Amino acid sequence: MLTQTTVGQAAEYFQLLSLEASCDQQEFWDYLILHHDEKAYEFQELVSTVSKENQRIVYPTKNQDLQFSLDVAKMLADFYLHYCTWVSEASYHPKRILDIGCDNGILTCFYAFLYPEAEVVGIDKTKDGIRIASELATRLGLTNITFQQMDYRNIRRLYPSDSFDMITSVRVFHEIIGTLPVPLYWSLEEFLRTSPLSSDYRYLEIIEELLTEDGVYLSTERLESPAALGLWSNMLEAVDLSIDWESSSFIEFHETGVRQKAPIVVATQSNRGKPTMEGITQLYLRNVENKAIGSFSSVAAELMFHQQEPKQFQTGRLLKFHDHWYQIRYEIWSTDTAILVYGCGNMGYRKLEILPLAETEKAYLIVEELFGQYSEQAAVGSYTSLEEREELSD
Ligand SMILES: C[S@@+](CC[C@H](N)C(=O)[O-])C[C@H]1O[C@@H](n2cnc3c(N)ncnc32)[C@H](O)[C@@H]1O
Repeated sequence: MLTQTTVGQAAEYFQLLSLEASCDQQEFWDYLILHHDEKAYEFQELVSTVSKENQRIVYPTKNQDLQFSLDVAKMLADFYLHYCTWVSEASYHPKRILDIGCDNGILTCFYAFLYPEAEVVGIDKTKDGIRIASELATRLGLTNITFQQMDYRNIRRLYPSDSFDMITSVRVFHEIIGTLPVPLYWSLEEFLRTSPLSSDYRYLEIIEELLTEDGVYLSTERLESPAALGLWSNMLEAVDLSIDWESSSFIEFHETGVRQKAPIVVATQSNRGKPTMEGITQLYLRNVENKAIGSFSSVAAELMFHQQEPKQFQTGRLLKFHDHWYQIRYEIWSTDTAILVYGCGNMGYRKLEILPLAETEKAYLIVEELFGQYSEQAAVGSYTSLEEREELSD
């Protein structure tokens, strides 16, 4: 439950900026065109075609002037509000804050507003972002903030080790190290245990070096699946930062009316962090009712299935869809107290039914029914051991 004061601080800040979320895409573009005419058309044209070149010029186009930059941010204003509310509620007391990839400074200025006793530094590689961010700080009368144009990868030239006790990055690292690659996989646990890290994880070493021993690194990156979040956790671990899974959380918000969810990942230098799979399970199942008997879907189904130990495989059926790589397995497993029907696809589909042992017959009927709905679109097979399953899946 949020207290009045903390909700108030984020809401008050966005009132100061007169920044309100657009609830609908059309409304967003109509507003932008009405108030900014040519700039709005230019920006619309740019974001409607995804290309490397457009990506490069999107920031200078968006950051032509402060009001245009703030009006474009209406698209993300609900995200900003939820993120800032979470930060203020978390009750940190930082003295020196670094915001990596600060862009127009909306979040950086919020930190300076929220922590008036702290010194805040925002860095970004784009000149226009830094110019607009400085204008925003001036408009808000903030004196505890500075902005510097620089590539994050060169920041160690300016700041010695242990310079900051709070470091933040919001939607930035996909631009520095690329989107984390998540191929088709059957088991999240196996994927995270066996996936090698790309050497780019070394850029996170900079954060570990800049962070004080008791400091905190808050990242809200584009980690849209548990596998991407797991890779991020493995990368942090590889540079001796570990996720505090209990403090980490999801925020829910909308982007022009479309519901979204993003993790706020809290990492520290402490090596008391849980192994990635355990942490992910804790985070994703936090609000899922822990039913001994019941149905689960999506990520919760896989994590609940993983938790049922010890379990014995009984039997399985495989669908290999014609003309593409998709495969689905429907399997029956048993534990001492329950019978499990687990549906699992290599494209991410997951479904779990946990039934009382006495309902074994029902479990077989469920498999028949699930299997039957696709069997005409796929080659089919059955297996009675996990070795046989491997041979069939190839
Ligand atoms: C999607 S924006 C996010 C901006 C801001 N954090 C927010 O959420 O409003 C990503 C920002 O990261 C900056 N950026 C990308 N690579 C960078 C690098 N190597 N060094 C510094 N900034 C970088 C971009 O210029 C851009 O302003």
